[in-house]
Amino acid sequence: MTVNLTIRRGHVPAERLERVGCVITASMRKLEPAIALLTRTALMEAYRHDLAYIHDVGFGDYARKCAPGLLHELGKAGIAGGLVIDLGCGSGLWAGALANAGYDVLGIDISESMIDIARGRVPQGEFQIGSLLRVKLPKCVAVTSLGECFNYLFDKQNSVSQLRSLFHRVYTALQPGGLFMFDIAEPGRGKGPRQKHMEGPGWAVLVDVHEDARTDRLTRRITSFRRVGSLFRRDEEVHQLQLYKRSEVRKQLRAAGFRVRTLTCFGEQRMIDGCVAFLARKPRTKAITSDLATLPRRQRR
Ligand SMILES: C[S@@+](CC[C@H](N)C(=O)[O-])C[C@H]1O[C@@H](n2cnc3c(N)ncnc32)[C@H](O)[C@@H]1O
Repeated sequence: MTVNLTIRRGHVPAERLERVGCVITASMRKLEPAIALLTRTALMEAYRHDLAYIHDVGFGDYARKCAPGLLHELGKAGIAGGLVIDLGCGSGLWAGALANAGYDVLGIDISESMIDIARGRVPQGEFQIGSLLRVKLPKCVAVTSLGECFNYLFDKQNSVSQLRSLFHRVYTALQPGGLFMFDIAEPGRGKGPRQKHMEGPGWAVLVDVHEDARTDRLTRRITSFRRVGSLFRRDEEVHQLQLYKRSEVRKQLRAAGFRVRTLTCFGEQRMIDGCVAFLARKPRTKAITSDLATLPRRQRR
């Protein structure tokens, strides 16, 4: 119970509690490092029950509105069916649109609560709980990711080198001609009001945003309220994002072998301020290797 309360409200160091008159016993002092660790871990936990629900009912428009544009790109590339992998699939809004359009879908997300909603929404889809930086990617026709999933630090390993290896794994999984479409948040994503307040029927969120320009890290402290009967349940999550410059992402995609375009929108859905979209294509034929490229032109046939 003590641990639960501490986790919900954030860890308060023992000496601060003593200053306001609390009695801290020796056994409580021994437990303190473990409680501090649990608190940090819990606050970094991804989209727990209430926030997953709120994201689905209150913030699902982005995925919904990107869907027609993404389906159009698949059609234009001649990809009419086959497996599409959605990394950071959230509550399965885009996965649902894919399934309705006749694609097979594998959704991957680190949040158990998001995956619960996705499984309910898209029973014909396959969903896995796991980090997009680690899961095995089967052969597929396209890979997508919406909502700055590549920036989140829920997986502490996230870094440019991890993204590089993700791009290589995506390239290997894709069939020739396959598409990789995603968005990312860039430095400057945290511009605008520091505190925001959003609400809908039966829920509200208060968000405190801070961008550290030195480390290119964005921190969002999110306090959520969700109606349960006649009361509102309060929860708190801290989300940290590593912001990546488009030039760096483009460089890593090209190094993996992709042909790359940056976009300001997916169909009708414009990118949110501070975000950029990528449309990367695995070429149908292998690029000429450097050995071959050095041969005189007449010997290359
Ligand atoms: C802003 S939400 C977007 C969800 C969904 N793509 C959409 O557009 O509705 C970001 C999602 O990325 C997921 N996520 C963040 N880091 C992840 C990681 N390392 N592995 C898998 N999922 C991750 C979160 O759990 C969350 O569902």
